[in-house]
Amino acid sequence: MTAVAHTRDELAQLRADVVERAAGRQVAVVMTMGALHAGHAELIRQARLRADVVIVSIFLNPLQFAPGEDLAKYPRTFDADLVLCRDEGVDLIFAPTPEVVYPDGEPIVRVSAGPVGDRLEGASRPGHFDGVLTVVAKLFHLTGPDLAFFGQKDAQQLWLITRMVRDLDLGVEIVAVPTVRDDAGLALSSRNGYLSEQERRDALALSSALRAGAGHGGEGARAVVAAARQLVTERSAVELDYVELVDPQTFSPVSADHNGDAVLLVAARVGPTRLIDNVTVKVTGKG
Ligand code: PAJ
Repeated sequence: MTAVAHTRDELAQLRADVVERAAGRQVAVVMTMGALHAGHAELIRQARLRADVVIVSIFLNPLQFAPGEDLAKYPRTFDADLVLCRDEGVDLIFAPTPEVVYPDGEPIVRVSAGPVGDRLEGASRPGHFDGVLTVVAKLFHLTGPDLAFFGQKDAQQLWLITRMVRDLDLGVEIVAVPTVRDDAGLALSSRNGYLSEQERRDALALSSALRAGAGHGGEGARAVVAAARQLVTERSAVELDYVELVDPQTFSPVSADHNGDAVLLVAARVGPTRLIDNVTVKVTGKG
């Protein structure tokens, strides 16, 4: 049975109930902003495999949206989300309002994402990662997990959360889950619902660019980035924000003579919708 908590008291009570039933067992959390799709379902499935109790949070966090971003029109599909969670055997859903999470209004004290938070996604979305890390830290404290599952789809977010847990000794094991794609290769995202039929086809430029880049892994870092960039800039319907190849350890751009794994990242606007995607590339050669 899936229990639903909306307030902090309900969460504490229901968490105690479900954890007591699985006394001494592992608790996992999957954090989401709702509008759940097969990518979220995969996170829940991976959590189910590893943990005895699975908690899903559904919270559209205003703190990580800048003024003028899509907070107001972000899809809200709570009834369908509930069905998906029940089907996936979720024990407890925490679906608070902003007033429950931020009872004193916008928090004055926040988690700072540091320099990596200002680059890539952070360059286009100032303050975004401080807002993400602040709510993730709060939801760790509220839900009390041993394990937390995050998607590689949001690679920079995953890197920052992993780093926050280490830097602040939060004592939660972070588990990364590979990106779930549709049959055409488009990474699933709650924002894909904004796309028209034509835009959906145009959006395939992102995953195609990553494949093109990965195909040049044997020719060095520069060739990887150039191949990916060329594919996106060829498509006039897609406005490129960035293509970058970063070191998975530091999330900083790799040097031209990098050898080993690197993360190839792309962000682009398709019509009014901003999309991101990434893939791990094995880079060899001088470049
Ligand atoms: P949201 O975009 O709803 O994503 C919730 C989780 O699902 C994240 O860990 C994200 O990486 C993962 N996810 C999304 N699409 C995926 C896909 N196609 N394949 C695999 N995993 C996917 O990310 C957030 O919410 C928020 O920033 C949050 C962490 C909840 C903090 O507010």
